[in-house]
Amino acid sequence: MKQIVLSGIKPTGTLHIGNYLGMIKPAFDLIEKFQTLYFVADYHALTTLKEKETLNQYVYDVAATLLALGLDPGRVIFFRQSDIPQIYEFTWILNCFTAKGLLNRAHAYKAAVDANLSAGKQSDADINAGLFNYPVLMAADILLYGAHRVPVGQDQRQHVEIARDIAAAVNSSCGKVLTLPEPLIQEMVMTIPGIDGRKMSKNYHNTIPIFADAKSLHKQVMRIVTDSKRPDDPKNPDECNVFNIYKYFASEDAIASRRKAYLTGGLAYSEIKQDLFELLNEHFGGRRDIYEQLLADKNQLDRILDQGADKARTIAEPVLGRVRRAIGISR
Ligand code: TRP
Repeated sequence: MKQIVLSGIKPTGTLHIGNYLGMIKPAFDLIEKFQTLYFVADYHALTTLKEKETLNQYVYDVAATLLALGLDPGRVIFFRQSDIPQIYEFTWILNCFTAKGLLNRAHAYKAAVDANLSAGKQSDADINAGLFNYPVLMAADILLYGAHRVPVGQDQRQHVEIARDIAAAVNSSCGKVLTLPEPLIQEMVMTIPGIDGRKMSKNYHNTIPIFADAKSLHKQVMRIVTDSKRPDDPKNPDECNVFNIYKYFASEDAIASRRKAYLTGGLAYSEIKQDLFELLNEHFGGRRDIYEQLLADKNQLDRILDQGADKARTIAEPVLGRVRRAIGISR
């Protein structure tokens, strides 16, 4: 039996190349060796996103993006979180085994409290209980399918550790009913710069979307911030935001020769930007049509996600049944 790998993507924005390199590509690389479950975490998005059209649109956008990038729903159990009602029953059960103090210490909640306090507000001002309980819903996602490993970025490590702590609490009280998950961290996710040089993130509005059309892709790449060195000046490639994206897409030979050109001088930023544009356009452009076709056919996307949900439920049901019996709920 293959080990189970599971991960969720929160549909709160259009997926960008930082997501691609940091999360999507590494997750795709695991499909061969593991039984993978990947899902769209729409109820996690609800903690921050309250506009119905936007939420709905992003769910399909994430699904279409992953499928266009080559996710094969015949091999990956690919589904929508909200199609698995067992998750919410399980979340309640897990809540009853979760120390409240564990959630007080969760980074996202603590950051929201700190922001309130430094703005002179009450500590819990505008913080909904969904945000507070976010890690428990995520623990339910992970534990309901018996996931062994959870590929996530560094920012989600604590959440996986919380899931593990909750599983251990259940097991120590009810016998070994849950699998203890381990995070699989992609260190590289930290280093992908956005067009302004900060980490690429939708929160900073500095992203390059995976399936931007050629014209907007070109525009975004040309906007990448560089210093004011002139073409002839020698430059440090490792400090260049363009190079630091380029190096993830170019061939080894191209990287080596471009690195040399940086160091000796004679390479204009406009030139390397044009290179990067062409590389990205080559890498993703061929699948842009597939993405757009998928996005235009929501019924087809629903069908694919429904089939994934059917498979996910067959894994979830026995686990939940086991837990219900272990806590004394089922007759
Ligand atoms: N919280 C994750 C994020 O924001 C998304 C997510 C939800 C997830 N449930 C999960 C990731 C379960 C891994 C496993 O990126």
